[in-house]
Amino acid sequence: MFPACFILVGMPENKEKKLRSQEWWGSNDDYYNFARRAWMRSEGFAPDAFHGKPVIGICNSWSELNNCNAHLRTVAEAVKRGVWTAGGFPLEFPTISLGELVIKPTAMLYRNLMAMDVEEMIRANPLDGVVLLCGCDKTTPAQLMGAASADLPAIVVPGGPMLSGQWKDRRLGSGTDGRKLFDLFRTGKLSEEQWCEIEGGMSRSAGHCTVMGTASTMTNLAEALGMTLTGSASIPAPDSRRLTSAEMSGRRIVEMVREDLKPSRIMTREAFENAITVDMAIGGSTNAVVHLIAIAGRLGIKLELDEFDVISRRTPYIANIKPSGEYLMEDFFYAGGLPVVMKEILHLLHRDLITVTGKTIAENVASAECHLPEVIRTVAAPLHPEGGTVVLRGNLAPDGAVFKQTAASPHLLKHRGPAYVFEDIEQMKAEINRDDLPVTKDTVLVMKNCGPKGAPGFPEWGQIPMPKVLLNQGINDMVRISDARMSGTSFGTVVLHTAPESAIGGPLAVVRTGDEIELDVPNRRVELCISEAELKERLEAFRPPAPKYNRGYGRMFLEHVTQANEGCDFDFLRPV
Ligand code: FES
Repeated sequence: MFPACFILVGMPENKEKKLRSQEWWGSNDDYYNFARRAWMRSEGFAPDAFHGKPVIGICNSWSELNNCNAHLRTVAEAVKRGVWTAGGFPLEFPTISLGELVIKPTAMLYRNLMAMDVEEMIRANPLDGVVLLCGCDKTTPAQLMGAASADLPAIVVPGGPMLSGQWKDRRLGSGTDGRKLFDLFRTGKLSEEQWCEIEGGMSRSAGHCTVMGTASTMTNLAEALGMTLTGSASIPAPDSRRLTSAEMSGRRIVEMVREDLKPSRIMTREAFENAITVDMAIGGSTNAVVHLIAIAGRLGIKLELDEFDVISRRTPYIANIKPSGEYLMEDFFYAGGLPVVMKEILHLLHRDLITVTGKTIAENVASAECHLPEVIRTVAAPLHPEGGTVVLRGNLAPDGAVFKQTAASPHLLKHRGPAYVFEDIEQMKAEINRDDLPVTKDTVLVMKNCGPKGAPGFPEWGQIPMPKVLLNQGINDMVRISDARMSGTSFGTVVLHTAPESAIGGPLAVVRTGDEIELDVPNRRVELCISEAELKERLEAFRPPAPKYNRGYGRMFLEHVTQANEGCDFDFLRPV
C-alpha cells in the first residue's frame, strides 16, 4: 500500500534540469540523502510528494509580535495551494519578523539581521525557489536583500494594507492622522474618551499601514521592480483577492523555477531606475531611498543619491494618497493600483524589462484602467510636477540629505532661521513641551545623534514633534533637520538622512543654537551659515560620543553599518 522505496522503485524519472533540492535528497549513494528523505517523511509526506519536484520555500515573516504580518500564516496556506496545483512541493519556514512600532529602539536596527536570516535560510536549505511573505516596513526590503544575495527564483507576496481607519464620520490613515490627532490630544482639544475611541478605530483589520508609508511604498516598489504579480501590492489584507493572488504566486513560482527566472535577471539597474521613478510618482516614503540603495547593492548595482533627484525632477507626482495626498491605500487599490500608475508613466520607464510574470512591464500594465481619477491623477494633471522625494546638498550635508517636498509646507521650502539644537532625543523629549522653549515659527529645530551609528540604528525620529508652545499659537509646521529617518506616514518640512551623520563628525555635529540655517529646496541646498574657516575649526574640535554597544549584534552593527547615502547595509554583505 505504501511505496517501500524512495528512489529506485516506482518513482517517476525526472527528465528536467536537475533541481537544486536534489542535491539534498536525490541520490541513493549517500547516507545523508537517505536521512534527509526520512526526515521529510517524518512530517508525513509521501515520497512522491517531494521527489523530483521543485521545492518552494515559503519565507514567512509572520509573527504575533508584528501585527502587520500576523495574518501571513493564512496567506501561506493560499500560496501552498498554488504550489501543489502547479506540481511543486511547498515548505513554509519562519524568519525574524520586524514589527515597526513594536521593536525598540527601532526596527531598522534589525533590517540587516533579518536580511541575513532570509539569505542564509534560502541558501542553506533544499529550496529551488522561494515565495517571500512580507508587509510591515522592514520586512519587504529585508526579504528582497536576502533573496537578491541568495539569487534563487523568488516572488514577493505582500500581506496588503489594512482597511481604512474610521472614527465617527472621519476616515483615518495610520500614522498620518494619528500624529495630527495626537497634537490635538496633547493640547487638550480631544478628551481621553475620544482618544480611546480613536485608538479602537485606527487599525480595523489585519494588514500594514493604510497610507503610502514605507510598507505600502516598499510593496509597490517590489511590484515596480518586477518582483510581484501585477496588481498584487495594494490588495487590502482582508480582501479575498489577496489570497487569490497568493495562490497564483504559488503556481507561478513553480514555473519560475523551471524557467530559472532569478532575482538577478529581474532586478537589473534599469529595474531600479523604474522603481525610483515609480517611487516619485506615488509620493513614496523617504525610507525607500535607503532600502533601494541597499537592495541594489546586494546585486552589485551602485545607486547614487543624486540619481534619485535627477529622476524626481522629471517625474510627476500623481498618486493622491496620504501623507502627501488625500486618500488611503484602499482607495488606491479601488482606483486600479500600481498598474494604473505605471501605465500612466510608461514613457518614463524601461518598458521591456522581464518580471516574475514572465512578461514585460509594458505587457503587464497594458490593460490597466483608472476607476477613480481623483485618486490616481494623469501626467497631464499631476498633483505636483516633480516627484515626492528630493535630495539636498550643502555644507550641512556634504554626502546628501533627503526631503519629502510633497509632504512639506510650501511656504517653508525657502527658509532661513536660527537653529535651536537638541544634542540628542533625550534632550528633545525633556524640552519639547516646555512653555518657555525659546522658539518661534522661524526657528530651525536641529536634532543630533539619530543616525545609523549615533542612535544607533537610524530610527524614525526625524519628524521632531512640534513644540507645544508653537502648537498653542496655531503653528503646525516648522523646519526640522536631523540625521534620522522619518516614518513614511509622516509629513512636515523635515530634512532627513543628513550625511555624514553627526555621531561620526558630520557637520550637523557642530551646529549650535543660534546659528543661522538656510533651506532652499528648489535649489536643493541646506546650508549652515557660518564661514568655512569657522566650520573647519569646529569640525577639528569634534570628539565622537562613546559607542552605545560594546558586544553582540549591536557591536557588529556599529562596526559595519554604512551611512544613509550608502543604504545602511553592512559593508561585508555586498558582493565581492
Ligand atoms: Fe507595520 Fe506601519 S507599522 S506597516
